[in-house]
Amino acid sequence: MIALTDKVTYSVEDGVAVLTVDNPPVNALSQGVRQGIKDGVERALEDPAVAAVLLHCAGRTFIAGADITEFASVPQGPDFHAVLAVMENARKPIVAAIHGTALGGGLETALCCHYRVAVEDARFGLPEVNLGLLPGAGGTQRLPRLVGVEKAVDMVVSGNPIRAAEALELGLIDALVTGDLRAQALAFARDAAARGELPRVRDRQDKLAVEPGYFDQVRAAIARKTRGFLAPELNIQCIEAAVSQPFDEGLATEAKLFRQALASPESAAQQYFFFAERQAAKVPGLPKDTPERPINRVGIIGAGTMGGGIAMNMANAGIPVTVVEMSDAALQRGLGVVRKNYENTARKGRISEGDVQARMDLFTGSLDLADLADCDLVIEAVFENMAVKKEIFTKLDAIAAPNAILASNTSALNLNEIAAVTTRPESVIGLHFFSPANVMKLLEVVRGDKTAPDVIQTCMRFAKRIGKVPVLVGVCHGFVGNRILFQRQALEGATPAHIDEVLYEFGLPMGPFQMSDLAGLDIGWSKETSTGSTVSERLCELGRFGQKSGAGYYDYDEQRNRTPAAVAVELFEEFAAKQGITRREIGDEEILDRLLLPMINEGARILEEGIASRASDIDVVYVYGYGWPVYRGGPMHYANSLGLAEVRARLERYRGKTGDAAFEPAALLVELAEKGGSFT
Ligand code: 3HC
Repeated sequence: MIALTDKVTYSVEDGVAVLTVDNPPVNALSQGVRQGIKDGVERALEDPAVAAVLLHCAGRTFIAGADITEFASVPQGPDFHAVLAVMENARKPIVAAIHGTALGGGLETALCCHYRVAVEDARFGLPEVNLGLLPGAGGTQRLPRLVGVEKAVDMVVSGNPIRAAEALELGLIDALVTGDLRAQALAFARDAAARGELPRVRDRQDKLAVEPGYFDQVRAAIARKTRGFLAPELNIQCIEAAVSQPFDEGLATEAKLFRQALASPESAAQQYFFFAERQAAKVPGLPKDTPERPINRVGIIGAGTMGGGIAMNMANAGIPVTVVEMSDAALQRGLGVVRKNYENTARKGRISEGDVQARMDLFTGSLDLADLADCDLVIEAVFENMAVKKEIFTKLDAIAAPNAILASNTSALNLNEIAAVTTRPESVIGLHFFSPANVMKLLEVVRGDKTAPDVIQTCMRFAKRIGKVPVLVGVCHGFVGNRILFQRQALEGATPAHIDEVLYEFGLPMGPFQMSDLAGLDIGWSKETSTGSTVSERLCELGRFGQKSGAGYYDYDEQRNRTPAAVAVELFEEFAAKQGITRREIGDEEILDRLLLPMINEGARILEEGIASRASDIDVVYVYGYGWPVYRGGPMHYANSLGLAEVRARLERYRGKTGDAAFEPAALLVELAEKGGSFT
């Protein structure tokens, strides 16, 4: 065996040159991998003892893409396109042996082999769109030639990978093998050499036809979901080029659009976020080999909206779950909602009818906390009341297994106080799920003063097992609290509809007034105690509770379409007059600043207090928990891109203009702004 580079080896076995890529963790196409593959193929072509080439990977996966860490640096040869050209034009057959994930540049490499052989659990995808990019090495031109235009569009726009069985059916791979992939792919390569054919994907034309108007239909269908993103549209344009242009012209179009995508702020933000998300899983000061506690059964206290949603995460991951409620009626109602959710998912074709039952079979309902004795992790998800939570944790402490982790889903209460009622505060932790808990990806893992390292480690890893993105935070009061600022802007002259529109245009799923209407204005309000001292209270007094009553800040028709309500604006005018606030026109930019700058400022305070370990963790929280558009990276990334001196100057300007202390720049922000630094 010869080492071609430190990442690729070469050996000849029975007339087949075997190129083995070994670049952990995901065999990304770093410089040494590109160089090794190119050298290996060229060597094999010159070697008279070699009749075919096998490309395969050591470790857990086939090549999972270009090395994203190289995007920001000066490109080092060999150029990826040049490597692929050598492969595609080779006069000896090249076979890719695929396990794990063939993604992005990895799949593009496989598409330049003459044949692809894979194991059953392999997956194939072009996920560049998730990085604000498009496949830049021929993927958009070759993929549709094998799988057809519609499937290719679906794959590049969604970024979702497909499984090996589907890949075989579509013609993306040539053989599916069970057992020893390397040995079987070697046999395949020898047969291919004997046949002597050299099929190239680029020469295929038979699957490129589409109905007229097809691409516009796709654009209309995805418009809502991809609003604000640049890459989905560029990916579509590439596949259009595959259909309408000769192969080499299509490649040139793809290369041009790739450069456009790579230079965009959207892609910079999405690449930043890719690493932010992975970084969040790492806890500073917690060694990688910190032991974990086994979690085989989870208990949930409370079968309400939160409890039920949390329990679904467990069942989705195949983990048995015991759900405890106070009354049989509440338990049955909770489990009924869970079943209904699963049935709805099955109706949409995302899981089978069999899956619905299999998941429900993982649920055990109970009215007795004592039934949680065999759980390794218990998550309390009852309403936010300290006395109630303390009572539950006291009881739980007496019941739970000695090694069990006791978690609270509290979003606001002091975890240390809850932990203090137990004899094992080191085993108590916060697991703050976001509603709907079976959908939202964020999990705030709240570390108490006494939470043990193995408990933190277990929960961070467990989060990944149930499909969540964990972010470790300290005990604090939650991040939101900007509502008051929206109210203030509306008093000064902006209309609720205008404020909502600006934030929607920025990329948030909806503005604050729409959100209030959706959540219900009467949360925490009662007729008896209402003092009519805020616009929201006055709206409630008028019976305007938001969407559910057909009226709030907006009026709603039967289909819940909204129109701005004059009465809401009149109320703001009335309150402004009472408070002596002069109303004026407020522009889009000011509205946006006055939302975003306090968020950034609050983020800086959270860092100062050590509540979050790094700025990128805060961005992960805002993107996955609060609908911040990922193509803007999160508030801290956004602040860096504006420049912290600029952020500080604007905050000070609004501080002067409104007198509102929320605009007082945080000390950390001032310090970094003065140094010319950034949050990351
Ligand atoms: N480049 C550099 N590093 C990468 C990488 C890549 N393409 N893909 C993953 N990594 C790193 C991660 O940052 C992480 O590093 P860390 O351990 O230091 O945090 C490590 O590999 C493991 O990654 P995950 O934690 O994500 O491991 P999983 O097992 O959960 O997932 C995966 C593996 C499915 C391969 C996932 O990492 C993934 O989706 N990677 C990105 C794939 C991708 O987007 N490929 C396209 C790249 S762009 C491209 O190819 C352009 C081309 O068209 C020219």
